[in-house]
Amino acid sequence: MSKKITFHVQKGGSLNGEARVAGDKSMSHRSIMLGSLAEGTTHVTGFLEAEDALTTLQAFRDMGVEIEQNGDGCLTIHGVGKHGLKAPKAPLYLGNSGTSMRLLSGLLAGQAFNSILTGDESLSKRPMKRVTEPLTKMGADIKTTEKGTSPLEITGKSGKLTGIDYEMPMASAQVKSCLLLAGMYAQGETTVTEPAPTRDHTERMLNGFGYPVDVDKNQASITANGKLTAMTIDVPSDISSAAFFLVGASIAENSNVLLKHVGINPTRTGVIDILRLMGANIEILNERTVGGEPVADLRVISSQLKGIAIPEHLVPLAIDEFPVLFIAAACAEGETRLTGAEELRVKESDRIQVMADGLQILGVNAEPTADGMIINGGGIGGGTVESQGDHRIAMAFAIAGLRASAAITILDCANVNTSFPTFKKLATDLGLQLTSDES
Ligand code: S3P
Repeated sequence: MSKKITFHVQKGGSLNGEARVAGDKSMSHRSIMLGSLAEGTTHVTGFLEAEDALTTLQAFRDMGVEIEQNGDGCLTIHGVGKHGLKAPKAPLYLGNSGTSMRLLSGLLAGQAFNSILTGDESLSKRPMKRVTEPLTKMGADIKTTEKGTSPLEITGKSGKLTGIDYEMPMASAQVKSCLLLAGMYAQGETTVTEPAPTRDHTERMLNGFGYPVDVDKNQASITANGKLTAMTIDVPSDISSAAFFLVGASIAENSNVLLKHVGINPTRTGVIDILRLMGANIEILNERTVGGEPVADLRVISSQLKGIAIPEHLVPLAIDEFPVLFIAAACAEGETRLTGAEELRVKESDRIQVMADGLQILGVNAEPTADGMIINGGGIGGGTVESQGDHRIAMAFAIAGLRASAAITILDCANVNTSFPTFKKLATDLGLQLTSDES
């Protein structure tokens, strides 16, 4: 049995000081994948040494890639080249990580060996047809369960994949990235069209490694004609982890926090736009470009937030931040309305239902809808809430303590280690009154 972690957060307090939050999860996954496929030795700094990205690291070690962990987020990846991966001896276990499973399914579809991908209870429930269907159109052979979930049994179709022109039914960077990785092994061109912009770290990093990807408005195209040349990658802090403190320092009185070296790629900054529309005081300082990705320091100071109708075009640009944005809405004056966010129902948990259940326990007027939530701000009470093993829900309710009228207990928080193992330390250093116990 894996251990259970419970968070206890006292009511009130403020956040003050400076922090560099954990490395970007999306970029950490991609640094391992592309560094492994590159020719030469890739050096990575700022790598997120958390369970999700480490499952990707282990998967590539299991496929014969030598990866040195030199401590403090520094890696040396001895790339094996585009055709250098070896058959894993056992199924690749990908824990809680949807990104690992969806991106790997595309990459492994065109290899000269077979593979099986498995995951934990949550990952085994998540929809995989969104990747296996287009991959099948490319000539891939991937078996799912009848429900379209993992384990995925992949028969490698080396030299047999054909490029497709695919219009994605949902705005998903994982699906886009999966198909681009498969396209690196397909005959002809693979073009993916997205209904709305999603994070473009795959495209940027492929270009950084010297592999051609054409991006034209909402389309990205790739062929098998290219190779990856080793490079140096500096992974910035994850804006999705910074988001907890962007909201925390906004809602807590007398707060002033500086978040250092945060990735502000425009496909990820929806949380800043939404909070600013709600009246937050967030300054973007010291903007620079690091390894092809925009980075900045973010200063956030307390402010009284107001409810808004969240513009739908911002939804994919803030897709992982809604648990904590719901906490912001609960502290705002008036109504906040989220629509067009049905994707939240198929994340690590059903984030609409699990957040609505927890908010209602805390006395918040929160009404879940098919594709979002309506929250009438007016304060947060105390109580015991379930995170359902969802890391971002656990951290969101911990932040809620800053404005709660009584203590909050959050169950099932071990998965905070999948994305932000230093959350408790950083949060308490900044002033959150958070303790935890294990059983
Ligand atoms: C991710 C894409 C998003 C996001 C996930 C990471 C990625 O998922 O929710 O946490 O790294 O590509 P979708 O593409 O399914 O929206």
